[in-house]
Amino acid sequence: MSDSPARRPVRLLPEEVANQIAAGEVVERPASVLKELVENALDAEARRVEIETLAGGRRLIRVVDDGLGMSPDDLLLALERHATSKVSTADDLAGVHTLGFRGEALPSIAAVSRLRLRSRAADFEAGSEVYLVGGVVRKVKEVGCPVGTLVEVRDLFFNTPARRKFLKSAATEGAHLAEALLRLALARPQVAFRYQAGGRLVWDLPPTAELRVRVAALLGRRTAAEMVPVSVEKGPLRIRGLAGLPSLTRSGPEKLYLFVNGRYVRDRVLMHAVAEAYRGLIPADRRPVVVLHLELDPALVDVNVHPAKVEVRFHRAGEIHDALAQGLRQGLAEAAPRPAAPVWPAPAPERREAPSEAPRPERYSRPGAAAATQGAGPVRPRG
Ligand SMILES: Nc1ncnc2c1ncn2[C@@H]1O[C@H](COP(=O)(O)OP(=O)(O)O)[C@@H](O)[C@H]1O
Ligand SMILES: [Mg+2]
Repeated sequence: MSDSPARRPVRLLPEEVANQIAAGEVVERPASVLKELVENALDAEARRVEIETLAGGRRLIRVVDDGLGMSPDDLLLALERHATSKVSTADDLAGVHTLGFRGEALPSIAAVSRLRLRSRAADFEAGSEVYLVGGVVRKVKEVGCPVGTLVEVRDLFFNTPARRKFLKSAATEGAHLAEALLRLALARPQVAFRYQAGGRLVWDLPPTAELRVRVAALLGRRTAAEMVPVSVEKGPLRIRGLAGLPSLTRSGPEKLYLFVNGRYVRDRVLMHAVAEAYRGLIPADRRPVVVLHLELDPALVDVNVHPAKVEVRFHRAGEIHDALAQGLRQGLAEAAPRPAAPVWPAPAPERREAPSEAPRPERYSRPGAAAATQGAGPVRPRG
């Protein structure tokens, strides 16, 4: 049987091609690069992270941290696919406590940019620096530098024109950068962030123990003033944060800042629980504003379900849903007792009333492309 001319033989992809395909999952746009780099800085226990971008991150994304840094050997190893210092066994994946764990970000980013990585660990006299073009190491040298790490990503997608074409205007990519950074800065108020975009200082955030201070700096003082503290422990969950009073609502898409063990997540179970807590308090067509940090045993959350790690899967999802809904409602009631109007929904509202955009947790299934927060990229189960 002869092949038709259009048919091509099946072959293994050359490594540089495989690299770029995998990169499509982690590196969708400048904001995803920024997110991965800042997550690395936070995983390295940085106290201060400085970010600079040009042209919405298309020309430059630079992240400098004062974290633990890397040894010269680790620096080169970190650029290899699936090289990570954060997990070593499959068992480790069941209780991930760092933001990263796949060892994919650096090689994926390096494959589609001109990348400079410079780092020094505290027990080394000097730092080392490596420069790569399209994932190929061009230069390695010893340099004098402070303890910590600098990553500079230039000309993202310069070697993948098809992907570069999908990038939006500098303003749009810049908005995505800001949103990505905002989530990270809300996740870690105790870390200082400085963000310069296009030569303009956007945020200079001092470290603070007060989430409210960070919220005021990022979401505005008026927003922060209309939020009440929430602090509850419920079942397996510990919830701390700020919840908008019923007077503080927004129209349009959900913008809930929910963090699970320090990681921003976009999770339908949690979003539904928040909606349930506010049901009857705010008009059905409005969305509440919340910044909530949820702490729970890492073994109860699977973070290895989404390439960008914004989706998680809860074991005991129903219990976590109810704990959040009840905890939040209780927190709102304690912080701001409402007049005796018939606005409080019964603790267990009718199950039939689930709004279509937020399915009941028991009907929860992995949302399709529509649920992706960072554009219309493919949502694949495991990067
Ligand atoms: N800013 C940083 N400071 C210290 N080490 C870093 C930094 N960025 C990356 N690394 C090291 O490089 C490794 C690979 O990083 P990455 O590709 O993002 O994978 P992952 O974060 O999943 O481990 C990390 O595990 C870490 O050891
Ligand atoms: Mg990482």
